[in-house]
Amino acid sequence: MKYAITAATGHFGQLAYHYLRELVDEKDIVLIVRNREKAKTLFGSADIREADYDDVEALTRAFAGVDRVLFISSQPGGPVPRATQHQNVIDAMVANHVSFVAYTSFIQADKSVSALAQDHLATEKALEKADISAAILRNNWYLENEMGFITTGASRQVTAYWAPGRAGWALEREYAEASVKVLV
Ligand SMILES: NC(=O)c1ccc[n+]([C@@H]2O[C@H](COP(=O)([O-])OP(=O)(O)OC[C@H]3O[C@@H](n4cnc5c(N)ncnc54)[C@H](OP(=O)(O)O)[C@@H]3O)[C@@H](O)[C@H]2O)c1
Repeated sequence: MKYAITAATGHFGQLAYHYLRELVDEKDIVLIVRNREKAKTLFGSADIREADYDDVEALTRAFAGVDRVLFISSQPGGPVPRATQHQNVIDAMVANHVSFVAYTSFIQADKSVSALAQDHLATEKALEKADISAAILRNNWYLENEMGFITTGASRQVTAYWAPGRAGWALEREYAEASVKVLV
């Protein structure tokens, strides 16, 4: 069984790799990255495959022989829309007959009014349409996002939180650990 992690060089990807190595043999892990040099510095001799989310052909090569994928969402705001990047990933997984994907989606992706939710909902629908067996990880907010808010409050300055509804938090490493358990 080969397991791949996309966007492996990001914070979430590095944490996921750490936890995945506790569960499966290191030789069965494939790291898909857009920057091979950065990945070599981080991961040494691991099975590193270079593929940008913008490049469906490179992604198709990168998923060769992979059974299960931890699909970590891209960052929004680049020249290629994130929903397009994610469709590229899905097309490449389908071309390689990937048997299972765990996708890092967004809390209440189908109801949220956050602009960030739209790409995630589009990706959830695209996974359904592609008919890949998938687990949708609707992760809540990373606690690390709130360090400015927390440190301001901790220094007894007045601060206000911006969320109009409810929000919940866990550490990014906790979501990463849970995601690889779902993957395996
Ligand atoms: N729920 C939350 O609170 C929350 C908060 C922040 C982010 N997120 C989501 O979770 C994802 C992972 O978070 P993170 O902390 O790991 O973010 P991060 O540290 O900023 O890492 C982002 C990763 O995406 C990769 N990437 C960006 N554009 C790419 C492209 N065009 N092709 C291939 N890879 C690309 C980056 O590659 P490089 O290393 O080469 O730059 C990096 O590996 C984010 O991308 C975002 O969708 C969720």
